Amino acid sequence: MSDIGLTSGDFTEESEPFALFGAWLQDAQASELNDPNAVALATVDADGLPNVRMVLLKGFDSRGFVFYTNFESQKGQEILGQNKAAMCFHWKSLRRQVRLRGAVEIVSDAEADEYYASRPLGSRIGAWASKQSRPLEGRFALEKSVAEYTARYALGNVPRPPHWSGFRIVPQSIEFWHDRKFRLHDRIEFRRETSTGAWSKVRMYP
Ligand SMILES: Cc1cc2nc3c(=O)[nH]c(=O)nc-3n(C[C@H](O)[C@H](O)[C@H](O)COP(=O)(O)O)c2cc1C
Repeated sequence: MSDIGLTSGDFTEESEPFALFGAWLQDAQASELNDPNAVALATVDADGLPNVRMVLLKGFDSRGFVFYTNFESQKGQEILGQNKAAMCFHWKSLRRQVRLRGAVEIVSDAEADEYYASRPLGSRIGAWASKQSRPLEGRFALEKSVAEYTARYALGNVPRPPHWSGFRIVPQSIEFWHDRKFRLHDRIEFRRETSTGAWSKVRMYP
C-alpha cells in the first residue's frame, strides 16, 4: 500500500512515539469513515480475566492517552482495581495499528471539568442518568432518569458527576504497525523503563 499523501511515510526512522502517533491520528482523521479516535480499551478484572470494549480517545500528549467514562462502570472498577490498561487503534483505511499499555492515572478535576463542559447538554445529562454497566430493567427507566435529571438541571449549569471523569494511560510501550506486502509488515515498538524515562526502539518480526 502506498503512503503517498500521508503525513507520515517511512515511520521506522522516528525516534519518539507521541509525534508519530499524532501524525498517524491526523492521517486517520482525513481518511476514516467515522470516529478516527475510536480505540479498543483492554482492562483486567480482579481474577485476571481480560475485558475489552471501545472508547473514544479525547486527548493525548507526552503524559499519555486520555478517555472519559463512568468510574462505577465495569471498566472503571477494573482500572481503579488494577491500575493498568491497554489500547489498540486500528485504522482500516490506512491499514495501520497502534497498541500501547501501561499504568493508569486519573486526570485532574480541572481537566475533566473542561472536557465535560465542552460536551453537548444531552451528553452531560446522560452522564448523570446512566448507571453505566449495571442492569437496566427497560428503556423506559433510562428515559425517566434522563427526564428527571433534565428537570433537576433545567436552570443553570450541569455539574460534572463525581463518578464521571477521565483516565490517562501512561504508556510503557507503544507499538506502530503498518501493513506491507505479503504480510511482511513493519512493526516498531517504543519501550521505556519508567514513565518519564528515555524511549528505546525495537523493530519486531511481523
Ligand atoms: C465507537 C465507540 C466509542 C465509545 N466510546 C466510549 C467512551 O468514550 N466512554 C465510555 O464510557 N464508553 C464508550 N463506549 C461504550 C463502551 O464500549 C462500553 O459499552 C461502555 O463504556 C461500558 O463498558 P464497560 O461495561 O466495560 O465499563 C463506546 C462505544 C463505541 C462503539
